[in-house]
Amino acid sequence: MARINENFQKLAAGYLFPEIGRRVRAYADANPDADIIRLGIGDVTLPLAPAVVDAMHAAVDEMGTDKGFRGYGPENGYDFLLDGIREHDYRARGIEIDSDEIFVSDGSKQDSGNIQEIFGQDSTLLVTDPSYPVYVDTNVMAGRTGGADDNGYYGGIKYLPATEENGFIPTPPSEAIELAYLCSPNNPTGAVATRENLEAWVAWAKEHDAVILFDAAYDAFIQDDSLPRSIYEIEGAKDCAIEMRSFSKRAGFTGVRCAYMVIPKTVTGTTASGERVALNQLWGRRHATKFNSVPYVIQRAAAATFTPEGQAQTQEQVRHYMENARLIRDGLAAANFTVFGGEHAPYIWMRTPDGQTSWDCFDTLLSRAQVVGTPGSGFGPSGEGYFRISAFNSRENVEEAIRRIIAN
Ligand code: MLT
Repeated sequence: MARINENFQKLAAGYLFPEIGRRVRAYADANPDADIIRLGIGDVTLPLAPAVVDAMHAAVDEMGTDKGFRGYGPENGYDFLLDGIREHDYRARGIEIDSDEIFVSDGSKQDSGNIQEIFGQDSTLLVTDPSYPVYVDTNVMAGRTGGADDNGYYGGIKYLPATEENGFIPTPPSEAIELAYLCSPNNPTGAVATRENLEAWVAWAKEHDAVILFDAAYDAFIQDDSLPRSIYEIEGAKDCAIEMRSFSKRAGFTGVRCAYMVIPKTVTGTTASGERVALNQLWGRRHATKFNSVPYVIQRAAAATFTPEGQAQTQEQVRHYMENARLIRDGLAAANFTVFGGEHAPYIWMRTPDGQTSWDCFDTLLSRAQVVGTPGSGFGPSGEGYFRISAFNSRENVEEAIRRIIAN
């Protein structure tokens, strides 16, 4: 008899996006002629940039030669990609990150879900609420929480409500917590943290010896250059923060898979006896044991996004999605919907009309407008009464979706 990890039974619902997919499939099966517009999961729709495609082709050709063939890659990533990351994502903004502080991976979903493995089983944690479901669900699976209460709050997690009143950017709590998940630009609310917001979080983490797990998967969507793209733009963050970034949204890699995590060697945790241990060393051990690097072809593709052509082409993709976001935001606001986000993020956070629950809003829009979004409550209890609309789609579909939402 193989006993199961019963922590999985604590999970209050199926993973959000498959549940949405199930409902949409059921509707499509019952209504085969329906022209459904999908603005639910934040999945990119534009084809890969030509510079990326060229780099992949060239890398495939190399792999077919005696000289260019490569087997297992370096665990942390090839130097050509690490150098591109260091130069473009960090040095260009005045930040020095060493190559051995970067861990190339196959996605920020995995990174944000796996990083909890290197922390103590009884570590305390906080999330802003609503938040990307992976942060909470993976800690539930790991047994770091109790069960969910009637409102969907898991015992043992500190939830900081992200509300209209605080601009969806909660301030740090007064108490000490060991791990804090932060995401900016935020999924799902589309809010973006200012330098002052992040300074407050870094000061809090340093005061309480906490570690911030900073998810910057949407950094490329920030439109105002004075806003921080990396938490390391804040002094002291290299002592207390781990950062995750991804090529998924910034370069259309959701199906290609490449991301990275930065763990400065100065970020530490402690053993029960108080000895300091570098988290970089622990994650390095974990990464080398459970992961065999991202394929060479994919790392070449990611590195191509840092070339001048790659930069221009991928930035054009981001502009396309951000124009969609602007249209959704302005179009719905003009029709008296209450909307947030969408200015530095590809997500619009809409208050549900007529006090509907998030799932009622989902069902109404699917059945009446054939538009798919994401119920805010799927991201946490404080998301109830909100609905997330993604800007990842064609201009035509976005314009049609706006018309249909307004008409229904
Ligand atoms: C989302 O829609 O929240 C994201 O696409 C999920 C993800 O990036 O895994």
